[in-house]
Amino acid sequence: MSNVIAVVNHKGGTGKTTTAINLAAGLTRYSDITSSCLVIDMDPHGCASSTLLGKLDGQPPARSVFDVLRRAITPQDGITSTVYDENIDILPANPYLESMAKTQINDRLAKVVASLSTSYGWIIIDTPPNLGVLTQNALVAADYVLIPTQCNGLAVPALHQLKALIAKIQERPNIWLQVLGVLITQKDGRTPLQKHVRRELSQIFPAADVFKTIITSNIKIEEAPANFQSIYAYDSGCLGASLYRDWIKKEFLKKHQKLEKLKVERKDAAEAAAAES
Ligand SMILES: Nc1ncnc2c1ncn2[C@@H]1O[C@H](COP(=O)(O)OP(=O)(O)OP(=O)(O)O)[C@@H](O)[C@H]1O
Ligand SMILES: [Mg+2]
Repeated sequence: MSNVIAVVNHKGGTGKTTTAINLAAGLTRYSDITSSCLVIDMDPHGCASSTLLGKLDGQPPARSVFDVLRRAITPQDGITSTVYDENIDILPANPYLESMAKTQINDRLAKVVASLSTSYGWIIIDTPPNLGVLTQNALVAADYVLIPTQCNGLAVPALHQLKALIAKIQERPNIWLQVLGVLITQKDGRTPLQKHVRRELSQIFPAADVFKTIITSNIKIEEAPANFQSIYAYDSGCLGASLYRDWIKKEFLKKHQKLEKLKVERKDAAEAAAAES
């Protein structure tokens, strides 16, 4: 099974959490792959955890990914069901996760994910707004990286650093990591996309890696998490729901299928080369 997706961008507020939770809910609805989905919240702020667990009291969960990573409990014991969607479970965050950021350990989440991968069709990892150890753990554990970004003059240049980190991790230790794509979010629907920003984006990531769907700013997308609902459950007819739905059905799933095929070919070629030598 290789459907582990890290949602990453070290710039804050680019729509990582919003995309991670609406992607999880969309996949349980629209993907042919087993509908169950696990969200792993690697952001110590725990925004995905609050929404999925229906808790805004700021109290850390009794069991969390932090306890799993420090091996105090098993991965299975860290998982909780959500109020958000019966097909979505969560390995929630805890503020103490921050203390892991001071370590050099970047492969521990990969071991956790490997032990859970047969239990879920999809595993989505939400990450904090930095490129530290927590984000690195997500990239080492993932098959794919998905990059939500705003498309403005400040957001795009930051992606150079992210691209460099992805390249480093693809060299070692995760040679199978692939870029699923860059998703432009929170665009003001009234103004055209600035051409020079789009141009700059295409100098960082190939045009084929930038999804054509643009998630515009939509008040319903902002309201849904506070109601502990995905955008589809909150208002399935709104623009935000149709944008995320169309992106998943028409682009995300097709790109995933294409990259899966590519990965199989690469693995076959690597095996053949190893057998020859
Ligand atoms: N398409 C959208 N339309 C309107 N509001 C949005 C949209 N996408 C995200 N938001 C809002 O923008 C804010 C930032 O989004 P989100 O929390 O998903 O970003 P993030 O990248 O996870 O942030 P952080 O880096 O702090 O973890 C949130 O208040 C969210 O509700
Ligand atoms: Mg977030």
